[in-house]
Amino acid sequence: MNTIFPKDFLWGASSSAFQIEGAWDEDGKKMTVADYNSFKKSDIQADTKVASDFYHHFEEDIDLMKELGMKTYRFSISWARIIPDGDGEVNQKGIDFYNKVINKLIECNIEPFVTLYHFDLPFTLVEKYNGWESRETVYAYERFAKICFKEFGDRVKYWQPHNEQNLIVRVEERINIYDEKDPLKIDKMRAQMDYNMCLAHAIAVNACHEMIRNSKIGAAVSSSVTYPLTCNPEDVCASRMNDNFKVYYMLDMHFYGEYPGYYLKYLKERDIMPYIEPEDKDILKRAKMDFIAVNYYRTNCAEALPVDDNHPYGTREGAVDFNLYGLFKMSMNPRLKASEYGASIDPSGLRVALNEYWQRYHLPLIITENGLGTPDVLEDGKVHDDYRIDYLREHINACALAIEDGVEMLGYCPWSFMDLLSSAQGFRKRYGLVYTNRTDHDILGLERIKKDSFYWYKKVIETNGKLE
Ligand code: BG6
Repeated sequence: MNTIFPKDFLWGASSSAFQIEGAWDEDGKKMTVADYNSFKKSDIQADTKVASDFYHHFEEDIDLMKELGMKTYRFSISWARIIPDGDGEVNQKGIDFYNKVINKLIECNIEPFVTLYHFDLPFTLVEKYNGWESRETVYAYERFAKICFKEFGDRVKYWQPHNEQNLIVRVEERINIYDEKDPLKIDKMRAQMDYNMCLAHAIAVNACHEMIRNSKIGAAVSSSVTYPLTCNPEDVCASRMNDNFKVYYMLDMHFYGEYPGYYLKYLKERDIMPYIEPEDKDILKRAKMDFIAVNYYRTNCAEALPVDDNHPYGTREGAVDFNLYGLFKMSMNPRLKASEYGASIDPSGLRVALNEYWQRYHLPLIITENGLGTPDVLEDGKVHDDYRIDYLREHINACALAIEDGVEMLGYCPWSFMDLLSSAQGFRKRYGLVYTNRTDHDILGLERIKKDSFYWYKKVIETNGKLE
């Protein structure tokens, strides 16, 4: 079928370990940061203990992926399953589990697309080193990455070192800053963790290329497209700075091996420059990504935010959508409709994002997350999720338009293959093409039920992107 999508386009779907696997302490696995944070909310919503129970259902789940016609499956490996303490003994049972998953995918002609670290740092590394603040965690990550490349690299060609480093560092809980209250100390810690994750990323890119022939590895970015709230030039500048501080400071470091000027200025003026060893420079410069993976959910607006007596330059306010005094203040776009969970729905913004990343870096792009989180209703064994079909259709169309614009795209993987544990709303907020029959407080039968969007997306894949 002739469409604008290349004939080997990787149609797929995504997930992550802590959000689907369950079996949180089975077969040697130990607690992760994701487990720890989810257990704090166990009485109000589902946690990671069972999640979608992929650990015990993976064969049936991969059979469904085959039925859907998926060309690739983007998933993550739980570091604490492979090395329960993060830097201690290797757990053969963890390696065996992922070997079974990967072998089953290959048997079903599905290309495994693996993220090494998706929000789930082994908790022992927090206790021992305060996680990413220490270079010990970088070395532990290097060992973990190399073990994965050695064990799975004969079958896994596509890799992502971290999922959304640029989002992880914005949320104190995700980087395990729990007790510190001084904002400057928090910013200093954050800057060091961020830098150490950049270094770990570069080490993984270099090792992957050295250890696996024909491998492809690239960053997964939580994308941000920011419109100026008004056409006041100050607001235009603020909107660019918002994208710079949310995305490009990190992508530039991954791509060029150094931070851009505006970010260095911020680190210096705030006096939070991270500790860097002289030999890091070569590691960072040598690391050449093969693609950029784009996770896209929404867009926002920004306006200028002047400093005041209580808020000197660089003072941060908020978490995921933080404001920076002297630079930008974020807001929702009054022209866009939002999902019931507050994400502005903006397919055109995806075309803008894809064009921007392509023009800046000229690296092929793949969408590894894009989807609509809603409270779906199961009725007579069916889920009529027309709203999700509309959402996916419009976003896939935006990819087609971007390809027409000249953007090189490798694939599209909606979030998520099946319903899974959403970070803030448990199982109330569902993203899947497949319904997981459970609620936040009742595990029920965990049956897998194909939603209407499953059948719709199956046709999209069969026709290589023909949109009905
Ligand atoms: C992405 C994450 O940022 O957003 C996923 O990579 C997450 O892990 C997804 O599930 C949707 O966010 P939420 O909060 O609705 O689960």
